[in-house]
Amino acid sequence: MGKVAIYPGSFDPITYGHIDIVERALEIFDKVIVAIADNAEKRPLFSIEERLRMARDIFKETPHVIVDSFKGLLVDYVAKTNAKVILRGLRATSDFEYEFHMASMNRSLNTHLDTLFMMTSKDYFFVSSRTIKEVAQLGGGVEGLVPDLVVRRLKEKFKLPIAKRKQMGWDD
Ligand code: PNS
Repeated sequence: MGKVAIYPGSFDPITYGHIDIVERALEIFDKVIVAIADNAEKRPLFSIEERLRMARDIFKETPHVIVDSFKGLLVDYVAKTNAKVILRGLRATSDFEYEFHMASMNRSLNTHLDTLFMMTSKDYFFVSSRTIKEVAQLGGGVEGLVPDLVVRRLKEKFKLPIAKRKQMGWDD
């Protein structure tokens, strides 16, 4: 049946930090399911359909990666698959407390599941979806931190004035 890992998150939007974790996880697992939380209460910038489309585009040529969405409890979603492992990336010590709480809660909800943490690569340890959105909204460049198609979607979302886009070299 093979070893399956569920990689859950908001992916609002997906970054190279996330992609790096998926690619490295494929060295360990036979299949990785990128599970995008349909969490409207978090007021995401991108709708669930937009986040699914971006992630599916990015992994369309990567075998053994499935992109899916889920609503409600993560453990209930995982139970519907044959995965035993929840995969999360850990950046710096600041991530630890949140991740420790979440992993402990998930384990108390389902003792058959484990959360596995992978250290984010040094190139991306400062990259988060939240800061990507903030920088993009304020007209900063996020090239190299998110795939080009995400850069384009961010530009569309924030529709910067033409003068600012020219200054950033985006209208070339
Ligand atoms: O990328 P994020 O926002 O840090 O991901 C958080 C996510 C989506 C993995 C987490 O909020 C989650 O699992 N939500 C589903 C609801 C749930 O199961 N909550 C209990 C876990 S503490």
